[in-house]
Amino acid sequence: MREADYNLFKIPSEKVTIDFLTDSGTSALSQEQWSQIMLGDESYASAKSWERFEAAVKNFTGKKEVIPVHQGRAAEKIIAEILLQKGNMSFSNGFFDTTRANFEHQGVTCIDIPSEKSFNLSIPRLFKGDIDAKKLKQLIIRHKKQAKMVLMTLTNNTGGGQPASFKNVELASNLARKANLIFTIDACRIAENAYFVWLNEQKRKGNIGVLIRKLFSLSDIAYMSTKKDGLANSGGFMVTNDRLLAAKLRELTVLYEGFVTYGGMTGREMEAIAQGLKEVVSPTYLEHRINQVAYLHNELAKIGIPLIHPSGGHAVYVDAGKLFSHIPKDNFPGQALVVALYKEGGVRSVEIGSLMYGKTLKPELVRLAIPRRTYAQSHLDYVVEIFKKVLQNKKQYRGFKIIWQPSTLRHFTCKLEPL
Ligand SMILES: Cc1ncc(COP(=O)(O)O)c(C=O)c1O
Repeated sequence: MREADYNLFKIPSEKVTIDFLTDSGTSALSQEQWSQIMLGDESYASAKSWERFEAAVKNFTGKKEVIPVHQGRAAEKIIAEILLQKGNMSFSNGFFDTTRANFEHQGVTCIDIPSEKSFNLSIPRLFKGDIDAKKLKQLIIRHKKQAKMVLMTLTNNTGGGQPASFKNVELASNLARKANLIFTIDACRIAENAYFVWLNEQKRKGNIGVLIRKLFSLSDIAYMSTKKDGLANSGGFMVTNDRLLAAKLRELTVLYEGFVTYGGMTGREMEAIAQGLKEVVSPTYLEHRINQVAYLHNELAKIGIPLIHPSGGHAVYVDAGKLFSHIPKDNFPGQALVVALYKEGGVRSVEIGSLMYGKTLKPELVRLAIPRRTYAQSHLDYVVEIFKKVLQNKKQYRGFKIIWQPSTLRHFTCKLEPL
C-alpha cells in the first residue's frame, strides 16, 4: 500500500484477491463471443466485423446512425465539442466523473439534479436514479439562455447504480424537447436499467429488447461505453437519427479515434461487442446479474453494514461516512474503508466521495462493482467475511491526507498518506 501511495489504482492486479474496482471492461466473455472473435476482420475500412457491429448496434438501439469510438469518454469528448459551447449549462440525474470532466473542459456548467428520493441513502425507494423533474423545469426557465442539454445516465452510477423509471426519462425528454434542448442518454448500463423498468414498472410484461429501444427513442443522441452492458472489454459508440449531426460527429471521430468504421476498435473487439449486445437483453442473464448484486447487498445488510438501499444494477454502495463515522469528511473515510478492505482481505474497491469529487455535500461512498459473469457466490461470501473483519477492527482505521494530486480526475493518480 505504501509503494502504491495508498491509491488502489496503483496496486498490481496479481496482488488483488477479489477485484471490485469496476465492472467496466472486466467481465468474462461468453464462448459465443470468443468464437465470434475468431471471425474478426481487421481490414482498415468497412470490414465485415464493422458490418456486424453496426447491425447489432442498430438492432439494440433502434437508431439509424452509428458512430464507433474506443470507449465511453471518447464519445463524451466528441459530443461536448460538437454540441456544447463555453457558457452552456447541462442538467442531469447524475453526471459520471468523465462526463462531467469532459463537459467542464469545454467550459460547460454541469448541474446534478437527482430525485429527492435518493437523498436518504438507507430508505429503499424504487427508481432512485430519477431526475428531479420539478427542479429541471425551474432550471430550464431560470437559465433559458445558457441551458443546452439534459443528460440521463442510465443507471445512475454516481448515485448508487440506481435506475430511472421509463416515465421519468420520458418526462425529462419531453421537458428538454419543449425547451429546444438536446436530450442525451448515457446508455452504458441501459440493459440493467431496462430490467428494473420491466420488473417494477411493467410488472414483467413485454420484451426487454423492445423496452431498451423505447428508451433510446426518447433521446436526440445517445452514447454507450460497451465495457459495461456491451459485455465486452472495450469499445463504445454514439447513435442518433440526425444525419447532419452524425456527419459532424464522424468528422471528429476520424480526427481523434480512427476511421468511422472502427473508431479505435479492432475487428475482433467489434465482434465481441456485437455478440455481447445480443446476449445482454436476455432476461435470464439480467435476472442472474441483478440478483447477484442483490445477494451481496443482502448479506452485507444482515451484518449491519450501512448501504444505499435498495440494491442497484452493477454494484453495492457502502455508506463509508456512516461506517467510519470516527473519520471526518476531510480525511476521506471512503478511502480509509477502501484501504481497510484491501488490508484485511485483498478486496479492491473504489471511493466515490470527497476524494473523487473534491469538497462536496455528497455522501462518502465506497463502491463494490461486480464484474459481469466473473465471480461465483463463494467469492461474494468471502467478501462478506472480510467486511466482518473490518467491523471488528474498525477503530484502528484512520483517515488520509493527499500529498500530491493532478489538476483533474485526481482519484486515479493522486498520492495519499495515512494520518
Ligand atoms: C455512467 C458512465 N458513463 C461513462 C463512463 C465512461 O466510459 P469509459 O470508461 O468507457 O470511458 C462510465 C465508465 O465507468 C460510466 O460508468
